[in-house]
This record gives sequence, structure tokens and C-alpha cells, in this order.
Amino acid sequence: MELFSGKTVVISGGAEGIGFAVAQAVGREGMNIVITDISTETLAHAQAKLSDQGITVLALTADVRKEADWQSVVEATIARFGAIHGLMNNAGVGGGGSSGPIEEHSAEDWRWTIDVNLMGVVFGMKTVVPHIKAAGGGWIVNVASMAGMSGFPFGGAYNATKLAVAGLSEGWAMELAPFGIQVAALCPAFVKTRIHLSDRVRPEDYGDAQRTLLLSEEDLDPETASTGIANAVKNGIDPDVLALRVIESLQAGDIYIFTHPSYSGVSKQRYSMIDHCFDNAANSPIVGNIESAPLDPDLFK
Ligand SMILES: NC(=O)c1ccc[n+]([C@@H]2O[C@H](COP(=O)([O-])OP(=O)(O)OC[C@H]3O[C@@H](n4cnc5c(N)ncnc54)[C@H](O)[C@@H]3O)[C@@H](O)[C@H]2O)c1
Repeated sequence: MELFSGKTVVISGGAEGIGFAVAQAVGREGMNIVITDISTETLAHAQAKLSDQGITVLALTADVRKEADWQSVVEATIARFGAIHGLMNNAGVGGGGSSGPIEEHSAEDWRWTIDVNLMGVVFGMKTVVPHIKAAGGGWIVNVASMAGMSGFPFGGAYNATKLAVAGLSEGWAMELAPFGIQVAALCPAFVKTRIHLSDRVRPEDYGDAQRTLLLSEEDLDPETASTGIANAVKNGIDPDVLALRVIESLQAGDIYIFTHPSYSGVSKQRYSMIDHCFDNAANSPIVGNIESAPLDPDLFK
């Protein structure tokens, strides 16, 4: 099945960073692009940059936390292009409010991260999947992270949401395969974007005194970042390289899209730790002799 040329994709958080890079790359492959974002200003720049290259683009201001916004996106996309074949649930937030020591984060930090990184994906799936089914199939990329491959110390809400997106995507891949829809979880390590400066798009709904500090223009410049995660992101891979990798991996039908192969040890270590704990259970005098029926994949239908 043709994945790109002549097809239409909706990319959330497509105004900059990873979402924009993938929009540009699949646009060059001949897709109609719908980019959505909470930031109207960066969205306008992105639209102009894509149009200037001859890419067909519709740019819509929309907040992934709001199911009604997703409905409007779907209606506008169908009105303009007639069908939807692709979805990239990319909008996400990270940085100070999303990870760090457990005692340092407010309920609002958790809610914001979960609302965008998890519920944004859920609403995207809920509203767009019926249209990809109606179109006879297509593809979905849910943006997780290497933080979706393992628990990390100080991982906080970011880790929680990315583990959730990775696990959900595995299930959705099985659930949607009969409809000709391939689902992949994109799991990059560090990519050079403004993810560590996500407070710039933190809505006021999360009335948290700590977060009301206004970010200066200098704070918003990735080049001025010098410590910790900010530094790792600044030295991350180019989003355009990641975008080409997404195309390559979709063509290969991968369920997980990896961009940093040298980190494969993270998941190997996780699975050997899990195996070891299963072995302990098998050797336990309490549960070692329990026999269970094979898990039925239709159990939750
Ligand atoms: N950059 C990295 O190192 C890295 C690594 C792994 C995973 N990721 C993931 O990649 C995805 C894209 O992030 P990025 O690195 O390009 O960051 P970015 O900050 O450059 O881009 C994120 C985009 O999402 C938008 N956004 C934020 N909240 C939104 C909301 N409520 N509704 C709609 N749009 C919203 C922002 O305006 C921005 O345009 C995220 O899910 C992130 O967690 C990033």
C-alpha cells in the first residue's frame, strides 16, 4: 500500500521540532499535510515554510488536550482533503515540570503532562482512527521516547506518559492491523528541539505559582541552555535526520521506531531484569506451581 504520495496526514504539535520535521519530510514525499498546534504564531511560520516548498498544507490551531478541538481538526481535514490516511500524535511537553524528584512536582505538573502527552494521544486516536478505517487503512505514529522503554530514576510524569504511549501503541498495533492500519511508537533519545522549554506553552489552567515565572527570550533560546537535560537536548540529533528515519521505519513496518540504536542496552537490561523476576516467581514455593491458561488477546474486547 502506498503510504505517502497523494495521502493526507494529521500531525499534532507540528509547528516546530520533531512534528515540523516529519511534516516537511512526508510533505516532500507528496502527502497533504495538516499541522495542528497550540501555538498559533509558530504554526503560521511553519505553514509558510512548508508552502514555500510547494507542500500542500493546512494549519489549524488546536489544543490536543481538548477532544472538541480534535473534532474540529477532523472536520476541517475532511472538508479540505476528503479523507485521512495518517496520524502523528506528536504534541508533547517535557522539561522542569515533567521530571525530577517525586517530592518536587505539584499535582498541576502531573496533570499538565498527562493531559498533553497521554490524553492528547488518546483523543487523537479516538477521533482520527474511524476516518483512517473509513479510508481503508494507513499509518499512525505515536511519539513516545526512550523514556517509554524503561523506568528511569527521576522520570516523573514524563516517564509515566511515555511508558503509557509505548504500551498502548503495542496494543493498538494489534487492534488496528485487521483494518490495514500500521501503528508505531517513535522512541527517540535526545533530539535538538525546544522540548526542555515546554513551559512556554503551559496553559494558565494549571495555576501553579512555581510555573508563573515568565520565561525571557534568552531562556527560550536553546543555544543558551547549559545544564542537564537542556544540554543533552541541545546536543541531540537533528530533527530532519529523525524524520527520514520515520519514513524508513514506516516503510519497514516497524512497531517501534528507534533513532538511537546504541541505546538498545536500555531495553535489554529491562527485559533481563523482568526475566530474572519471573524466574524468581517460578522458583517460589508460594506461586511456583500455579498453572495459568494462555492469555486470550480478545479478553478486553
Ligand atoms: N526532543 C527530544 O529530545 C525528544 C525525545 C524523545 C521524545 N520527544 C517527544 O517528541 C515530541 C515532540 O517534541 P519536540 O522535541 O519536537 O518538542 P517541541 O517543544 O519543539 O515541539 C512540541 C510542539 O508541541 C506543541 N504543543 C505543546 N502543547 C500542546 C498542546 N496542548 N496542544 C497542541 N500542541 C502542543 C508545541 O507548541 C510545539 O510546537 C514530544 O512528544 C516529545 O515528548 C522529544
